[in-house]
Order: sequence, then structure tokens, then C-alpha cells
Amino acid sequence: MSRLVVVSNRVALPDETRAGGLAIALRAALKERGGLWFGWSGRTVKDVPGPVHTLADGNVQYATLDLLREDHEQYYNGFSNRTLWPLLHFRLDMVDYDRAIYAGYRRVNALFAERLAPLLRDDDTVWIHDYHLIPLAALLRERGIGCRIGFFLHVPLPSSDLVAALPEHGRLFSALSACDLVGFQTQRDLERFQDYMRLFGHGRVLEPGLIEGPGGRRFRAGAFPISIDTAHIASQAAAAVNKPAVRDLRTSLAPRQMAIGVDRLDYSKGLPERFSAFKRYLTRHPDQRGRLTYLQIAPVSRGDVDAYRNLRHELERSAGHINGSHAEPDWTPLRYVNRNVPHATLTGFYRAARVGIVTPLRDGMNLVAKEYVAAQDPADPGVLVLSIFAGAARELDQALLINPYDLDGVADAIASAATMPRDRRIERWHAMMEHLRAHDIAAWRRDFLQALDAA
Ligand code: G6P
Repeated sequence: MSRLVVVSNRVALPDETRAGGLAIALRAALKERGGLWFGWSGRTVKDVPGPVHTLADGNVQYATLDLLREDHEQYYNGFSNRTLWPLLHFRLDMVDYDRAIYAGYRRVNALFAERLAPLLRDDDTVWIHDYHLIPLAALLRERGIGCRIGFFLHVPLPSSDLVAALPEHGRLFSALSACDLVGFQTQRDLERFQDYMRLFGHGRVLEPGLIEGPGGRRFRAGAFPISIDTAHIASQAAAAVNKPAVRDLRTSLAPRQMAIGVDRLDYSKGLPERFSAFKRYLTRHPDQRGRLTYLQIAPVSRGDVDAYRNLRHELERSAGHINGSHAEPDWTPLRYVNRNVPHATLTGFYRAARVGIVTPLRDGMNLVAKEYVAAQDPADPGVLVLSIFAGAARELDQALLINPYDLDGVADAIASAATMPRDRRIERWHAMMEHLRAHDIAAWRRDFLQALDAA
């Protein structure tokens, strides 16, 4: 088996204790084959960045590079998160494009290629992750790199008319044809990519999943829905009931039930709409008054980008308004927390919640939805309320599927989730859990790497 080289903007170093499920899965893949993880060091510098920082952990090497402060601003806050993030989440109205930030994005990708190329061997398998690094495969090819290269897009891909609104879209997205395999979260994302290549990318779809790029190079594309470590989360959640933080939360709620939402504070997650839907639930279902306390955990994210700061202010206002008009002296309907909760504790919170609310306006997959299901008590599981616009809805079809723009619909789904009889909850949960057991994160990386090896 050839050595695996993972490339991503963020790198979870071996001493990173808060590494998420994806980082742990990538580390496992690297350990299995021996490998290298390459990416940004998390540091910015004022002068030309020095050589890459390297670190070895058994058969896995880590190589990270610092970025010039200004480059990082343009590449990460700028083109990645002000231009590409909203575009890829169907929010053309929020796209902020500027030639200067695009130039910064290309500069950083070129620097990645320059620093990574000398570390590569001919028989390596390179796996590039996400929208920060779309041009990288092509830039590596320009440097004569001939090894197998795969790319996985963690976020959605919108319809080709939206993609084509981006200046430079042709150069950017056609660069993916330098890969041997391009992976998407869902079949719909894959179909939209094929449409894009056909209509705007000067490519041809030779058969589903086999594309000829503008230069005549053929490559594979496929859908590889990302997942979670199902067994691990289930056992972590069962053990977490004894954690003081989980016990304290349960005690503070009793005798009421809890609904939980856990999201990065991001406009793609539909939080203002969700708060409004919860308010609607309180007024539309007065018979359920006081039955459910809603805990929203929303760690602050990308705080240097205006849209994220504005969202934070909007949610503070909205949370205050909901509690101001509905709280009782002994009950606060909405608990809104901007802090991160350790992952093991979080699984205990999921298990303590009768309702899981996951209502993004767009989401590549949404692993919170999957984790919420995996964390439930098999004998008394909670109910997932899930947006049809999350990639996860394609698999978790036993959730209560809602359109997040339909506030009445979300309000009613929360009400039915809160009152659903146990046998129906078990039935729905069972079907979803079976699926998650068969399609876990290990299966995801195996499927992708097998397809890449075969491409
Ligand atoms: C999404 C993206 C990831 C990103 C994560 C956290 O899941 O697909 O690439 O790492 O958000 O965002 P951040 O900007 O903090 O890396």
C-alpha cells in the first residue's frame, strides 16, 4: 500500500486533544499506511515564512507551514470564507469577491504546492481536503508531481448557474480535473458538479462518475457521504451519563425535557430561523408550555468575518427576546451558550435530550445529526428534527424532516418530537442507527481510498 499524504488547511497535531471525529479518522488512515499530514501551522508571521515545521509520531509525519499575516487574511478570512463559503452554501447574496483576495488565495495554494512538492514520492497517494485548497492538485501537477491525487469537498456544491456567477470560476473549478478522484458528500453534489463541467467547465461526462476535463485529462468523481465513529460515540455517550457536567445539566432541567442544538455559529446553520421556529413552537403549542427547555450550544466561529459577527449580535437579540417574552420565574425556555463543550460531555448532552434540532439552510453533511442519533439510549431514544437541506437527510430519512424556512413546520415537528410515544421513537431510531453502524467513518475513508487507488 502506498504512503498516504493528507493535505488540509487545519492539521490536528498528535497533541491536539480536542481533535474531532474526522481528524481521528484521518490519523487512523495515516497510521495504517504510514504517511504525512501537511497543512497550515495555525500561525501567521510578519515576514516571509521559514521552512515547514516537522514532527514525527511513529510512522506518521506532520509538516505544517506558517503563513504571512496578509496572505492568511486574504486566503482564509477572504476568499475561502467571504467568497467560497457563502457561494458553496447557495448564498450568492452574501458573496464578497475581490481580485486581491483571490490572488491571496492562489498565492497560498501556490506556497502549499511549492513546500509540499519536495516532500512527495512518486508512489504516494495524496488526499486533499476542502474548499481552501481547490487549485492545489493542478499546482502540484505544474511542478511535475505525477502521483495519485484525490480531492474531497466537505461542503455542498451549488447548481452550476450559481458557481458560474463567480469571476474566475472556470480556472478554479476546472483545476479539479488535475485530480484522479474528486469526492462529494452526496449524489446531488456530484450531479451538480457533472452539470457544471458539462455546461461551464469545458468538460465532458463520458459516463456517470467519469469526466474528461478541458485539457482532455480523464478523472473519476463520486459521492462519499462522510460519517462518524458510530460505535465509539454510542459507548462514549453511555459512559458520559456519570460525568458531573451531564448530571448537573440533567438535574437543572428536571422535570422538564430538553431539546438540543449544537452548531458552529455560522449563518449556514439557520440559527435565527431556528430561534424563530422555537418561538413559534411556544406560541403555537400552548398545551406544551414548560415541557421543553431548548439548549443551543453555538461556539463562535470565524469571528474576523463581518457576517459572523453580525449573526452573533442578531442571535443575542433574538435569544433575549424569546426569554423576555416567554420565561417564567422558574423556567428559561432557551439556554444559549457560545462556549465549546468537550466532545465526550457533548455526547452525554445528546443522550439527555429528547429532541435533537438540526436545521441548517444548507450543509454538506452535518455530523451533529449523525452523532445525536448514535448517542441515544436504545431503550428510550430521542427524536431528530432534521433539515432537508443537510446532506445527512439523504441517509437519515427516519428523522422528522423539515424545511427550515417553514417556521410552522419546524414548530410542529418539535411538538411531535416532544410527545412521540416510545415505541415509535425506538422504531425510527433503530432504522437510522442500523444505517450508521454500517456506514461509519472508517467505511467512508476506506471507500474513498479504495476508489482513489482504483482510479
Ligand atoms: C467546515 C469546513 C471545514 C472547517 C470547519 C471549521 O466543516 O468544511 O473545512 O475546518 O468548518 O471551520 P474553520 O474555519 O474553523 O476551520
